[in-house]
Amino acid sequence: MSHTKLRQGIIDTCLEMNHSGLNQGTSGNVSHRIPGGMLITPTSLPYAQMKPADIVAMDFDGTYSGRRLPSSEWRFHRDILKNRTDVNVVLHTHSVYCTTLATHELGIPSFHYMVAVAGGTDIRCSDYACFGTQELSDTALKALEGRTACLLGHHGLIVLADTFEKALWRAHEVETLAKMYVHALAIGEPPRLSDAEMAQVIEQMRRMSYGQTPDLDSVADRPHAAKAKSASSSKRTEKKTTRAKAKPKTRPKAKKR
Ligand code: 13P
Repeated sequence: MSHTKLRQGIIDTCLEMNHSGLNQGTSGNVSHRIPGGMLITPTSLPYAQMKPADIVAMDFDGTYSGRRLPSSEWRFHRDILKNRTDVNVVLHTHSVYCTTLATHELGIPSFHYMVAVAGGTDIRCSDYACFGTQELSDTALKALEGRTACLLGHHGLIVLADTFEKALWRAHEVETLAKMYVHALAIGEPPRLSDAEMAQVIEQMRRMSYGQTPDLDSVADRPHAAKAKSASSSKRTEKKTTRAKAKPKTRPKAKKR
């Protein structure tokens, strides 16, 4: 069995998805790119029972190998990974607030600046298509144009990322935005940030490498990092502290004669 670490990564991501409340039961599925294809969760198997050997390996032409059937959504995982060479992970959930909006065929507009975590000025909702169909894959791919997340009409959420960690982070952010938007709608349709304001947010996120654990040297806009103390100066401080402890400042009183 090859790619053991990635297989375990898929299982851990699914377990985390359910433990954190992003998903429930056997809904949802996860895939990761491998050369010429992908690894993907099997269909309908409870995540707690999933073993690395249950993860299905599939080529981009649809040929698969393994002891399980691939997720019913293998088409959109395959089509996304084939067309979006900027990502490695596809994560699908039926998270409650995203799905609530999707049942009304609503996406998430620029009511909050964090909408930019999906790469644009809004997070679209795809048209409805039956699960497991090529039609669903086509409409999902369209809704994902220039984005790393979309809602699926009357269905759920898809997020894309380069790593499992980032996919979970993005899914949590989008689900939180959906929750906020549902609450905001209870008061009335909230005003939207303009395209210019959103463009500024997107640029700010790019400059700060926002949402990444950045390689500090690559971040254009960052506060001045404290200079690391040299080994000799920290040794000096250590010595001073020891001496200070050994010699109390107050002198013992002289004995009265
Ligand atoms: P699978 O168990 O086949 O992955 O289906 C779950 C799902 O969410 C379908 O959209």
